[in-house]
Amino acid sequence: MEIRRGETHDAAVLADLARTTFYDTFAASNDSNDMALHLERSYGVDQQAAELRSPDIVTLLVEQDGKAIAYAQLRGEYRPECVTGPSPIELWRFYVARGFHGQGVAQALMDRVKEEARQRGAATLWLGVWEHNARARAFYAKCGFVDAGQHVFLFGTDPQTDVVMTVTL
Ligand SMILES: CC(C)(COP(=O)(O)OP(=O)(O)OC[C@H]1O[C@@H](n2cnc3c(N)ncnc32)[C@H](O)[C@@H]1OP(=O)(O)O)[C@@H](O)C(=O)NCCC(=O)NCCS
Repeated sequence: MEIRRGETHDAAVLADLARTTFYDTFAASNDSNDMALHLERSYGVDQQAAELRSPDIVTLLVEQDGKAIAYAQLRGEYRPECVTGPSPIELWRFYVARGFHGQGVAQALMDRVKEEARQRGAATLWLGVWEHNARARAFYAKCGFVDAGQHVFLFGTDPQTDVVMTVTL
C-alpha cells in the first residue's frame, strides 16, 4: 500500500473513486435525484483536476497494486463557529473503497492526514460527518475526534445535518 499526494494527472482516477465511494456510502439511504445532482456537481473530471491543482487543497491517494483504493482531501479556507481550536484545517473528504473497510487502510490514511495537516501549520483538525453515518463517526472517535457541534451539508436539494468533530493535532 502506498499513500501519495494526488497530482493533476490523477483527475480521472480520483473522479471515478470519489463517485464510486460516495455512491456506495450514501445511495441506499438517500433520494436518487439528490444523489445524481451531487455527483454531477462534485465529481466531474474537470472539477477534480481543479481541486488537484488548487494550492488550498491537499489530496492524498492510497494505492494498492497500482489501483486507487482510498483518498482524503484537506482544505483550509472555512471553519464553522463551533470549531474554536487554534489554526484549524478541514478534513473535507475521507473515503475508503468498500472492499477495504476494516483492514487498517483508513487508520494509515488518517495518520498521514494528521502529518500533512501539521506540516501545513495546523493545530486543529475538524470535519463534518452525516449524523446517520454511524461507522464513520465510530472510526473518527477511535482516531481521537470529539463532537463539537453541527452544521448543514447540502446534499443535492436536501439540507442535511452533519456532526462537526475536532481533534487537536
Ligand atoms: C469511515 C471509514 C473511512 C472508516 O474506515 P474503516 O476501515 O471502515 O474503519 P474501522 O473498521 O477501522 O473502524 C470502524 C469502527 O466502526 C465500527 N462500526 C462498524 N459499523 C458500525 C455501525 N453501524 N455503528 C457503529 N459502529 C460501527 C467498527 O466496529 C469499528 O470499530 P472497532 O474497530 O472498534 O471495532 C470507511 O468505513 C469508509 O470509507 N466509509 C465510507 C465513506 C465514509 O463514510 N466516509 C466518511 C465521510 S465523512
